[in-house]
Amino acid sequence: MRRKIVAGNWKMNLTFPQAKELALRLNTWVHANKPSVEIIIAPTHLYLDQIGKDLKNSKIRVASQNVSAMENGAYTGDVSTEQLQSIGINCSIVGHSERRQYHNEQDKYIGKKITHLYEHGMTPILCIGEKLEDREAGKHFDVVKEQVTVALERQDPDKLKDLIVAYEPVWAIGTGKTATPDQAQEMHDFIRKTIGAEHGISIANTTSILYGGSVNAGNARDLFEQYDIDGALVGGASLNLDDFTTIIKARY
Ligand code: G3P
Repeated sequence: MRRKIVAGNWKMNLTFPQAKELALRLNTWVHANKPSVEIIIAPTHLYLDQIGKDLKNSKIRVASQNVSAMENGAYTGDVSTEQLQSIGINCSIVGHSERRQYHNEQDKYIGKKITHLYEHGMTPILCIGEKLEDREAGKHFDVVKEQVTVALERQDPDKLKDLIVAYEPVWAIGTGKTATPDQAQEMHDFIRKTIGAEHGISIANTTSILYGGSVNAGNARDLFEQYDIDGALVGGASLNLDDFTTIIKARY
């Protein structure tokens, strides 16, 4: 069963009081509206413990924005799966384009993170997506196929049943240039077929594929009408409660 998911990637935004307030206001809204959609928020590492405690009995799942591929040890500034689990976090974004861009994360290394998360019974949200120059050169399908194939190669099929993938064309992230519903559907269909070819149709049909890249209150509904768009990974608009809840309602 493909889950309908709306996730908010808060990135390196909000002070601690602002983050606590947004999480608690979102929780109040969720409690009152009981949305039939899985909701995930990914605050900065610093706030995960407190926000996880504040949302302990909530329907909202709290995720990390990143995780180390290594066990605990001499990796300054990194955060391990064991450390995340010790504060009740069991889901992490991996391979976000900003990690690939600013921290030179490659597909194989991202694959190690996924393996590590699965070994600890945790859920990865694998981010993939082409750059503008890839699309303009007609290479966007090749790029995305490589990202999916390498990151998921040698993963235990039994672990992949709750996989979440976020297709985030880099040219749409933070730019206001959202992919059209047709562009997004075309790539989501391609990603699902690629996963099916590599890992079997049942995995392909249970993978939730989210779209990310300038999703907002005005365009979410048109995106969600596409057959292979199961939800959204939202950046900027997730920092505004009205916008984020409008996107959630569009996913009903
Ligand atoms: O991870 C989601 C993010 O990259 C999308 O950002 O601001 O374009 O919604 P934004």
